[in-house]
Amino acid sequence: MNNRRNWIKETGLGILGMSLGININAQTITKEQPSNSDSMTLLGLNENPYGPSPKALIAMQESISNANRYAFKTTTALINAIAKKNEVTPENVLLAPGSTELLDLTFQLTSQNKGSYIIANNTFDYWTSTKTDSEFKRIPIPLTKDKKHDLKAMFNAIQTDTKLIYICNPNNPTGTICNRKELLSFIEKVSEKVMILIDEAYIDYTEEESLGNLGITNKNVIITKTFSKLHGLAGARIGYAIGHTSTIKKLKELKSWPNGNLSLISMAGALVSLQDHAFTEKVKKLNIEAKEYTIKEFQKLKITTIPSYTNFLYFSLENYPKDYLQQLALNRIKGSRIYEENGKWSRITIGNIEEMKILISALQ
Ligand SMILES: Cc1ncc(COP(=O)(O)O)c(C=O)c1O
Repeated sequence: MNNRRNWIKETGLGILGMSLGININAQTITKEQPSNSDSMTLLGLNENPYGPSPKALIAMQESISNANRYAFKTTTALINAIAKKNEVTPENVLLAPGSTELLDLTFQLTSQNKGSYIIANNTFDYWTSTKTDSEFKRIPIPLTKDKKHDLKAMFNAIQTDTKLIYICNPNNPTGTICNRKELLSFIEKVSEKVMILIDEAYIDYTEEESLGNLGITNKNVIITKTFSKLHGLAGARIGYAIGHTSTIKKLKELKSWPNGNLSLISMAGALVSLQDHAFTEKVKKLNIEAKEYTIKEFQKLKITTIPSYTNFLYFSLENYPKDYLQQLALNRIKGSRIYEENGKWSRITIGNIEEMKILISALQ
């Protein structure tokens, strides 16, 4: 549970939670906004600094007056739109308030009869804190030297009781991506016996094709996606899983009201955002520009980066002369922890260009 507690602390939700008991007002809510001058520069959670899409905002505002009704029609419309985008049927899709819940559900499903699961080290793993090692044994597999998933080692680590393998593609915190051919052949070999959970939270930042439609035929593949990143709807909480109809059915059985726990307002935003290609293309372009700027400036500061397919960068502070975390703190910038002491590797979200300039001047 410690991981989760740290995460809550990192996100600032702890502060909001404390204030909930006292008084919640508009000012408390607007504290999430990074743009006013006395707030922090938020580069810790890989949020999208440009979102939500203006069209999604209008749809959300317009939907508010219908908030007295249950949102059956909007739910169906969103599932249909997601199915169409991913070239699957609506029965292959399960919605949730954020993809974390779908990672959790997959974890619950596969750990029902105990056994073990295989996961990279480092990767996005807060959701695994719901089980102790004795309930569901964790088999961590180090990344390769170039910080990618070591698919060969993951394959070799499979035990007779292994129920789940998690692949975050692209990977958080490293921003690296699996070679598509290798990943497909890994899935083909492994999925005969073991469930593979592919987390595509950042895939839309890449030019790679999603593996979503594998779910049509393969019972042992679940793909999760989110509106929290490219679509800039992290606070609206919308994610979805794609899988075989029978697998989605099993996930649904873990819920009292599957597809029923999303707000009309969030779904209205997601539905419109899905069609707003001009917005998502603009976000991708601005992300690349700000990322290139940051990489160039990091080089001057002796901070070494590795290629990133995402809206964040993973970098080594080994040759950076100052105390990085202190520089962030002094300048009210929220970044990430040191993930690997060896090489002093950390991660930073690519914000907008103004935010990256604040970061660079803080580190100079
Ligand atoms: C790889 C990865 N998966 C899932 C999530 C969770 O996203 P959501 O907001 O959809 O719960 C994150 C959030 O940072 C992430 O980095």
